[in-house]
Amino acid sequence: MLQPVLEEIFPQVYKFRNDKQELLVTMNLTPGKTVYGEPTFLVDDVEYRSWNPTRSKLGAVILKGLKHLPIIPACKVLYLGVASGTTVSHVSDIIGMEGHVWGLDFAPRSLRDLIDKVSRFRKNISPILGDARRPESYAMMLPKVDVVFADVAQPDQAEIVVKNSRFFLKKGGWVMLSIKSRSIDVREKPKDIYQSQVEILEAGGLKVHELIQLDPFEKDHAMAVAEFI
Ligand SMILES: C[S@@+](CC[C@H](N)C(=O)[O-])C[C@H]1O[C@@H](n2cnc3c(N)ncnc32)[C@H](O)[C@@H]1O
Repeated sequence: MLQPVLEEIFPQVYKFRNDKQELLVTMNLTPGKTVYGEPTFLVDDVEYRSWNPTRSKLGAVILKGLKHLPIIPACKVLYLGVASGTTVSHVSDIIGMEGHVWGLDFAPRSLRDLIDKVSRFRKNISPILGDARRPESYAMMLPKVDVVFADVAQPDQAEIVVKNSRFFLKKGGWVMLSIKSRSIDVREKPKDIYQSQVEILEAGGLKVHELIQLDPFEKDHAMAVAEFI
């Protein structure tokens, strides 16, 4: 049997290979505790959690060939549309205890699940109940951040990100925006919608470096990665 192999593809993000499979994984910040039923693997007595790209657009964009991942160890992240915590749990693994992520959602039920199942055990996540369209309402709760990550699936998702970047993003910081074309217009071609979202980001002072489609993991979705200049 082949020994499992780990290849670090970004800081604290790995590809795990054994004789049966190749998986995206992160090192579990809470060994023995999983979040969404993901399998775990031990390598040299360290536990890694499988990162399912069909449940996480951040996982999907990494496997689709992302060149620059701005979420790195010790960084501060504002996460808009955190839901019950699938993706943010991997963000928490990557940034580690030196970093922090503020996870915002306006759905009380999702936030309650996030607290019960995830942030209670992961002290680098602070849940915030709030509306991403109103950054002024939670401005007192967080400092300037290195990255704004957004997965809100709303027709005005790009405007929401621009607004939050102005409030919270450091100059030279980064935005990752998950674009769901069907949230904007079901009749228009997804590629035209992605381009219109890029234009909104750029008009808001964000230079888009990468625009990556997420199929086959997520149909009619793309991720824009932009720098706040
Ligand atoms: C696609 S889900 C997010 C999934 C999550 N990012 C993950 O990968 O684990 C979108 C989330 O955005 C939240 N949302 C949508 N509009 C919002 C808004 N204006 N303010 C805050 N949260 C919002 C929804 O409640 C929902 O939980």
